[in-house]
Amino acid sequence: MLDLCTSLLILAFASASLADVGDFTPCLQFFYRSWPPKGLAGTPICQRYSNIYHFATLYSRHHRSPWFSAYLYTVPTGKRPKASWKYEPQLAYPAADGNMMPFFPGQVDHTVLESQAVELDYINSTYSRGHLNPSLHHQTYQSRSSTFTLTNVVPQKKWSNDGPWENLEQTVNETLAAYCLGKAYIVTGIIPYQKEERWIKNRVGVPEYLWSAYCCPSFNHSIPERLKDAFPTFAAIGRNDPNSTEEIVPIDKTVKKQFMGYDVRQMSLNSLEMYLKDRFNTVISVFKDQCT
Ligand SMILES: *[C@@H]1O[C@H](CO)[C@@H](O)[C@H](O)[C@H]1NC(C)=O
Ligand SMILES: *[C@@H]1O[C@H](CO)[C@@H](O)[C@H](O)[C@H]1NC(C)=O
Ligand SMILES: *[C@@H]1O[C@H](CO)[C@@H](O)[C@H](O)[C@H]1NC(C)=O
Ligand SMILES: *[C@@H]1O[C@H](CO)[C@@H](O)[C@H](O)[C@H]1NC(C)=O
Repeated sequence: MLDLCTSLLILAFASASLADVGDFTPCLQFFYRSWPPKGLAGTPICQRYSNIYHFATLYSRHHRSPWFSAYLYTVPTGKRPKASWKYEPQLAYPAADGNMMPFFPGQVDHTVLESQAVELDYINSTYSRGHLNPSLHHQTYQSRSSTFTLTNVVPQKKWSNDGPWENLEQTVNETLAAYCLGKAYIVTGIIPYQKEERWIKNRVGVPEYLWSAYCCPSFNHSIPERLKDAFPTFAAIGRNDPNSTEEIVPIDKTVKKQFMGYDVRQMSLNSLEMYLKDRFNTVISVFKDQCT
């Protein structure tokens, strides 16, 4: 009897340690002080590619898109990999291998289709695939490739994705590469529409805003004056809809027409958390003790 219990226990532990969906335990290294953001509910995914954990995502099954992705920044080298889109088998089949898998040509399995976004959702929609964790913030080819999974992607307007939001990703790249001395933890997430949610193909939730924040506890103290507010933490919110009101992010009417209404506003971590509290109606903490 005892033996049976013991082996059952071992089995339970063995299968728990294999599960990459439902628990952040195997990938706590991507969070500052191993502390995932508090206040948002969803399905944790430890993003595993070729048997290596690359980042962590809190996924919304209801929206078939992520709440946020959390990762460690590394100075990028080399080119952006060719987009080869992947999915997460474990969202459909809990017992499946925990590695993300490339989509195969042809029809997608029905259970997979129900459980997450697929390439067809984005084709001919008016939205591009917006990475939360961008390939640009990673050193190795493999970790860059691992960001091309639809569980790390939200419907993002092209002129945000290829405009102000991309500029933000580049600014963060340059700032951290130049002045962050130790680890830099980044969390990038979304804010849904408040009243009426929007969807592509009636399946994938469209965010009204994207947000991002980093925590770099160890930095070079001889930073230039213009970057004094960028350490140890920094945050921003970006518009994904030119028709949104301007309380959170005002519109600069002097920019090129195609970028108008896709502004990104840089702000303190404190301000970001204030807007998140306002919109989610609950306290959201991105980093433990605000990364102090
Ligand atoms: C996308 O739109 C084009 C042009 O209307 C059409 O030819 C194509 O079949 C559509 N593709 C899909 C996957 O719906
Ligand atoms: C990111 O920063 C590194 C280091 O400064 C630089 O070499 C690289 O060109 C930057 N990448 C982009 C896409 O801006
Ligand atoms: C800190 O920044 C200054 C000014 O850019 C630079 O001269 C110095 O080498 C940096 N120190 C470190 C440890 O990176
Ligand atoms: C913004 O509103 C205009 C007028 O109602 C509409 O034509 C347009 O499609 C809207 N844009 C977006 C991105 O929703």
